Amino acid sequence: MKQVKKELAEKLSEKLDVEVDLNDIERPEPEHGDFAYPVMKAASELGENPRKLAEETAGKFEDDDTIQKVDVAGPGYVNFHLDNVNFAEKVFEAFEGDRFGIEGRDGKVLVEFSQPNMAKPMHVGHFRNNALGDSLQRIMRFVGYDVTSENYIGDWGTQYGKLIYAFKKFGSEEEFQENPMEHMYSLYVKFHKELEEDEEIEEKGREWAAKIEEGNEEAVELWEKFREASMNYHKRDYERMGIDFDRVTGESKMVEGTKKLLEEGLERGIIEEDEDGSLYIEFDELPDVILQKDDGTTLYLSRDLENLRKRIHDEGFDYNLYVVASPQDLHFEQAFKAAEKLGYDTSGCEHISYGLLSLPEGSMSSREGRIVGIEDALDEAEERAREKAAENMEREVGNAEAIGIGALKYANLSVSRSKDIEFSWDRALSFEGNSGPYLQYSNTRAKSILREADKKGELLGKFEEEEYQLLKKLSEFPEKVERAADDREPAKIANYISELCEEFNSFYHSCKVLGDNEKTEKRRLRLVEVFVDVSDQGLELLGIEPLKEM
Ligand code: ARG
Repeated sequence: MKQVKKELAEKLSEKLDVEVDLNDIERPEPEHGDFAYPVMKAASELGENPRKLAEETAGKFEDDDTIQKVDVAGPGYVNFHLDNVNFAEKVFEAFEGDRFGIEGRDGKVLVEFSQPNMAKPMHVGHFRNNALGDSLQRIMRFVGYDVTSENYIGDWGTQYGKLIYAFKKFGSEEEFQENPMEHMYSLYVKFHKELEEDEEIEEKGREWAAKIEEGNEEAVELWEKFREASMNYHKRDYERMGIDFDRVTGESKMVEGTKKLLEEGLERGIIEEDEDGSLYIEFDELPDVILQKDDGTTLYLSRDLENLRKRIHDEGFDYNLYVVASPQDLHFEQAFKAAEKLGYDTSGCEHISYGLLSLPEGSMSSREGRIVGIEDALDEAEERAREKAAENMEREVGNAEAIGIGALKYANLSVSRSKDIEFSWDRALSFEGNSGPYLQYSNTRAKSILREADKKGELLGKFEEEEYQLLKKLSEFPEKVERAADDREPAKIANYISELCEEFNSFYHSCKVLGDNEKTEKRRLRLVEVFVDVSDQGLELLGIEPLKEM
């Protein structure tokens, strides 16, 4: 609990007459107390013996009625045992405020995520991106930033020229109408098969791509038709995953600005021209990059330069976050370096890199050897959640889809983002702990206690040990959320909520909530209420639906 730590740090500063920061205060093992202050640093500043200073410090807290007991341990630790009720009052009071007492942040934040390429279904790898990006937008917004989430579609480049060529050559309007995504995807596969026989068609694809870029009517019309069909297709996935964007843009929107940016860079001598007419930029420590091809078309990286310029320069975002998997680490290093060379302040630009998601062989049905699309994964999650829930609860559940998708989200979010994930359905759907269903289940269990009680909780009497442990865990929530926001790391919240649920379940196991004497019952109900608030909010921040019942 930050407020409580802060108060303690202030008192220590005053009593010791040295600067004590809230980060100097530690959380010891529960049996040693609630907070510990190691005096070593202060002792060396004051030129005193640490053990002696610790004892003196402890003495100065004897009359403090927010503290129940102070003792000294080791070479110079002061251990504080707080007065439980006083502590609880402070925690609960802070939780009544906005954002559970978190001080609101200022700043305009852009969170870019999802970014599928058009004419292809999203595959399971995209699931991690979607889960991560969505959770980040929720967390950043919650701590007070002014957040804009953006889906930056991959909708430009030679591949769409190839698609147009393939559609004109082998496509069928009827098949397209019937199942646009499947048709576009099959054309893409067909084009590449054909390419093995006939290298010439590569050039044909490039010609159509150039036509799109020149604004040729037929080319643009087809391109727009494919783009729209892709967006309509993705929309269903987003709806199922419960994901919203503030705006949808795309690489295509950058083309004009990119050309201007490149021209200026060339004039200023930062960008160079090769003999064949292509443009590139040179770095000292990174591989050089080509920014414009010899035929005058822009490239993925150069479009990112314009995109960055627009966000930082025109729109004034303080933070510009790109949620993109680790294979593009070098891309972003180069893009940021190039932007710096061109004079843009990239200090707020961050590549939110994450590791890959691998599926053990045969774990997801892939129809006819197709890539495993997000849709397949969502269907399978729902189906397996239905079975697993029936097995565990010995009845049918009505919300298998929410449970299945929650399980997938938790499995993706509970691992810190730099790490790869080896996905396992058994782990993802476990009801025993560290899983989405376990979180949702603990949360609904608490809600059913409140429904049954049908009265309000109240802070009465003294806490028993198990109750106090739950209270302490609850008190950590705001710090964990702030940490998750600062580190751009939803795993901090996912893992915390999982530990909190464990704490709740052991509390529930050893403390009867209903039917004990009035005071005890009300006090325990109060804890259950706060647990519901915190776990509801925690699940929301992860984009996992908190359920009413399961
Ligand atoms: N559409 C790209 C891909 O699928 C990812 C775009 C990432 N964002 C960016 N600003 N470069 O690889």
